[in-house]
Amino acid sequence: MNDSRARQRILVTGGAGFVGSHLVGHLCSRGAAVTIIDDLSTGSLRNLVEVRDGGANLEFIEGRAGAAINGLDARSFSAVYHLAAAVGVQLVLEKTAEAVERNVIDTSSVLRWAASAGVPTLITSSSEVYGRGVRSPFREEDDVVYGPTTALRWSYACSKALDEYLALAHYHAAGLPATVVRLFNTVGPRQTGRYGMVLPRFVRSALNGQPLEVYGDGRQSRCFCDVRDVVPAIVALLESSASRGRVFNVGSDQSTSIGDLARLVVATLGSSSPVVNVPYAEAYGPGFDDLQIRQPDLTRIRETISFAPRIALTQTITDIAAQITRVAAEAPR
Ligand SMILES: NC(=O)c1ccc[n+]([C@@H]2O[C@H](COP(=O)([O-])OP(=O)(O)OC[C@H]3O[C@@H](n4cnc5c(N)ncnc54)[C@H](O)[C@@H]3O)[C@@H](O)[C@H]2O)c1
Repeated sequence: MNDSRARQRILVTGGAGFVGSHLVGHLCSRGAAVTIIDDLSTGSLRNLVEVRDGGANLEFIEGRAGAAINGLDARSFSAVYHLAAAVGVQLVLEKTAEAVERNVIDTSSVLRWAASAGVPTLITSSSEVYGRGVRSPFREEDDVVYGPTTALRWSYACSKALDEYLALAHYHAAGLPATVVRLFNTVGPRQTGRYGMVLPRFVRSALNGQPLEVYGDGRQSRCFCDVRDVVPAIVALLESSASRGRVFNVGSDQSTSIGDLARLVVATLGSSSPVVNVPYAEAYGPGFDDLQIRQPDLTRIRETISFAPRIALTQTITDIAAQITRVAAEAPR
């Protein structure tokens, strides 16, 4: 069998998660056969129902990525998207050691496995890697600045930074065709608010007529990009030879303050919920360090794949609300 026929499948770790399930749907819609590894720690098989119902060529392996890949032959894969990770500041604060281990040890194993057969590999890092940042908007080559190690929230940033070093080291040492993407706030249907993600939390509160809790004074801003814009971009990056051994910001560069986001959710959904402010110390414990602004410079991705997000935030809010309502209607009473 020649190499192109032997390498038929695409591996997606974390494929039952929020971004992963959209990525799997996108790849399957292009006719790919996809193998998913996911331990369902934060993901859910429910996220894959639509893809499965569409008759996709899917293989699902339940387990930790670092262990489960040992049962697979790297030579039979044409691409690897490594998304499996402990995600979200709240989860990382609650289970710091486990989160760091998941993010570093499993990623190390996946990269070694991919490097053994030279499989083009993309890993999802995070805008958190910039830490406090040295300027705004953040550029890929900027220095990174973290707080002290006693402030556990920075462990997520450091674990993702180590993942980047590992991917780039395999690129330089073994020629692994590796691409690193730093996702900024990615939003859309299927994202869960359980681990502190702001938009699904706001939408759920607005739908239930409960207060939307804005942490701090609400003037801190973020850039939100719909997952359905993010997913084709990361596929285009993996498929571009110009992305090898490089790091890319992926997201929107349109800033929205968290207070404005809450008011936009209320207005878009016609909700009567109030918007209230909650001190950071109450939400995250004393000494929590948040960034006022987190905005990407998108020059590099625009030059490489002509990236331009299209989906408006109001559309994303409407679609998240529709999905939450649908899942609630389907749930057994
Ligand atoms: N959503 C965002 O805004 C955002 C921002 C920055 C970076 N990212 C990155 O994108 C990726 C996907 O994030 P998401 O938002 O879809 O989160 P998610 O929690 O929905 O997805 C992560 C998935 O990985 C699985 N998983 C976790 N650790 C695992 C392990 N060791 N082995 C196997 N499966 C494991 C979980 O069960 C889940 O299905 C992550 O790498 C995350 O760091 C996301």
